[in-house]
Amino acid sequence: MNHSPIVAPSVLSADFSCLKNAVELINESQAQWIHWDVMDGRFVPNLTFGMPVINALRPYSTKVFDVHLMIEQPEKYVQEFARAGADIITVHYEATTHLHRVMQKVKNEGKKFGVAINPATPVDCLRDIIPYSDLVLIMSVNPGFGGQSFIDRSIEKLKLAKEYIAGLNPECVLEVDGGINETTGKIALEAGADVLVAGSYIFGRKNPKKSIETLLKL
Ligand code: DX5
Ligand code: ZN
Repeated sequence: MNHSPIVAPSVLSADFSCLKNAVELINESQAQWIHWDVMDGRFVPNLTFGMPVINALRPYSTKVFDVHLMIEQPEKYVQEFARAGADIITVHYEATTHLHRVMQKVKNEGKKFGVAINPATPVDCLRDIIPYSDLVLIMSVNPGFGGQSFIDRSIEKLKLAKEYIAGLNPECVLEVDGGINETTGKIALEAGADVLVAGSYIFGRKNPKKSIETLLKL
């Protein structure tokens, strides 16, 4: 059941003093998406960047901007992220009381809507939002930091999510994020993932382009 994956390099592990270089490196590669990890210091114990940074880098790439919001009350900001240049806006199931309303806000901006779940959140929570989602993101580490180890249980979650997607909305894509390398990436693809997010495996290594090529060929 092997198929060619979408690779979404996460700039979280890139050198923040020259993010434009990271974007250009991705532009020159065959990676289809760029993954932006937005953190608010509340939903996760870390802070990164917000709309201005994404907006500033948008003119430098035509790749799909895959924006992963690890922020509380994402409903307050999704419109601004849409206008900053996000193509896909993914919010956490755990971060909002009115997930369906956030989805409506994202769709009203003409953007794709994604929903993410943490490692201890059951896949069953997604059943009523999958019909309205363009993307489901299974977190395979606790969100907040790059460079953590893949949590094995994520494989069962990917399989179940794929099953629900097949039954409820086959157009929806399945993304996995956290601890992805050539080994975990392959297992995740076999479990049904369509999109591999990778940060440290790409930007933490000597030859980021080679890492991207490796993941694309899994
Ligand atoms: C973690 C982020 C990830 C992170 C993955 O909270 O959502 O996208 O960049 O980093 P690696 O690939 O190093 O686990
Ligand atoms: Zn992410």
